[in-house]
Amino acid sequence: MTTRILTGITTTGTPHLGNYAGAIRPAIVASRAADADSFYFLADYHALIKCDDPARIQRSRLEIAATWLALGLDTDKATFYRQSDIPEIPELCWLLTCVAGKGLLNRAHAYKASVDKNLIEGEDPDAGITMGLFSYPVLMAADILMFNAHKVPVGRDQIQHVEMARDIAQRFNHLFGQGRELFTLPEAVIEADVATLPGLDGRKMSKSYDNTIPLFSSEKELKKVISLIVTDSKAPGEPKDPDNSHLFTLYQAFATPAQLSEFRAELINGLAWGEAKNRLFQLLNNELGEARERYQALISKPADLEDILLVGAEKARNIARPFLGELREAVGLRSFKPKPVQQQLTLQDVGRGVARLLGKAQEFAEGMAEGIAEIEAAKKKAKKSRFVSFRDDDGSFRFRLLDAAGEQLLLSKSFADGKAAGMVNKRLQSGEALDIREQDGGFCVWLDGECVAQSPAFADSAACEAAIARLREALAPQE
Ligand code: TRP
Repeated sequence: MTTRILTGITTTGTPHLGNYAGAIRPAIVASRAADADSFYFLADYHALIKCDDPARIQRSRLEIAATWLALGLDTDKATFYRQSDIPEIPELCWLLTCVAGKGLLNRAHAYKASVDKNLIEGEDPDAGITMGLFSYPVLMAADILMFNAHKVPVGRDQIQHVEMARDIAQRFNHLFGQGRELFTLPEAVIEADVATLPGLDGRKMSKSYDNTIPLFSSEKELKKVISLIVTDSKAPGEPKDPDNSHLFTLYQAFATPAQLSEFRAELINGLAWGEAKNRLFQLLNNELGEARERYQALISKPADLEDILLVGAEKARNIARPFLGELREAVGLRSFKPKPVQQQLTLQDVGRGVARLLGKAQEFAEGMAEGIAEIEAAKKKAKKSRFVSFRDDDGSFRFRLLDAAGEQLLLSKSFADGKAAGMVNKRLQSGEALDIREQDGGFCVWLDGECVAQSPAFADSAACEAAIARLREALAPQE
C-alpha cells in the first residue's frame, strides 16, 4: 500500500537554509520513495492569516514554488499545488467548522499565545485576533482531510494542529460515516534526525530572529552573510573547539563524514575563522550552485510556473471534487433529482458486441437487443407510480395514487386515523385481486364492501378503461 504524505508551506517569507535542511530536503527525498504518494502545497490561505501585504504574499508564493522545483521535486510523481487553487478546501473547511468544537479551538497554542499576550499588555483578550487565526486549525484540518493523508510531516509547533485534525475527522466520521471511515485519521511525523540549523548568532535559524542564511542568494551575498556568522575571538593558529562552534554545526549539516572529520581536525589545528568561513562557503556553494541556477531560470518565467502549478491543482482537484461530492451527500446536501438510471449497456458490452459482429452478426444483434431491453426495463422501473399521503383540512388522513406521469389515478376516502389509511394503502399494493367498479364517469376501488378510493371523472369510457389499465399496472407486484 502507498502512504500518502501531505504537508503545507505557509507562504509568508523567503526560504532559508534552515527550511531547506529541516523541511524541504527531507520532503523531496521522501517523495522519491517507491511507496510514497506525496502532496506538497503552498498554504497561501494560511499566509493571509499572518500577512496583509499582497506584494509579499505574491512574492513568497513565487519564491517557494521556484525553490521546491529547483531543488528537484518531481511534479510527475508528487502532487504540488497552491491551496488557493483548490476551492474544495474552503468548502470542506466549512463542513468541518460545523463539527469542530469551539472549546477545542480555544485550546490551540497559537491562539492562546495571542490571548495571553493581550492579557499581559492589559488589552482586551481578543484584541487584534481575527477569526482566521482562531479557525486556523480547521483550515489546516481541511487541507489534510481533503486528501486523506496518512502522514503529515511538520515542525513540533504544528503537532497540536494535526491532532486537532484527527479529532475533527473522528467526530465527522462518527456523525456522518454510518459506520464507514469517511476520513483517514492523520498522523503527525517529526523527522527525528533532521537538523535544526543554528542561525548566524547561534540561536535556531528563524525569520523571527533575523539570523537566517537565504537559500538562493548570489555567491557574493552568500559570502557576505557567512562572514556575519558569530565565532569566538580565538586568533589564527589557536586551536578551535568544533563542538562549541555553530559554524561547525552548519558545516556538519551539509558535509560528508570524510569532509567533516577533515574540517574538525583543521579547526583543532588552529584553522583561522576567516578560512573556516571560506570552507563553509565552498561547501554550500557546491551543494546549492546548480539549484540556484535552476531557481533563477524558474523565477524569471513566472508564467511557466503558473502552468506547472495549475497542472498540480487539476491533479489534486480530480481527487478533491468527487470526494467532496461524497461528503456533501453524507451531511445531507443532496440533489433533489433521483440518481440517473444506471445504463445497463457498458462500453465493454458494446465492444464485445462489435467483436462478435465481425464473426457472428446474429449474436451481436441479439446482444444489442438484450442490452436495449434491459435499459428499457430499467427506465420503466425507475419511472414508477407512487402513493402520496396527506392530511385533509378537517384533520382526516387520505392518500392519492399518481401514475408515472404524475396524473392522479386514485383519491382515497377520508380515514379518521393514519393507521387505517396505511392499512388500506398496503392492501392495495399487496397484489390481491382488485375489485374495480365504474362509477360517476370514473371508477371506484372496493375493499370489504366499501369504496375506499375513487378515480377522477374521465372524458369517455375509453379514457376510463385506459386509466384502469394503468392502475392495474401500477398496483401489480414488482418483481
Ligand atoms: N500550518 C503549517 C505551518 O505553518 C502549514 C500548513 C498549512 C500545513 N496546512 C497544512 C502543514 C497541512 C501540514 C498540513 O507550518
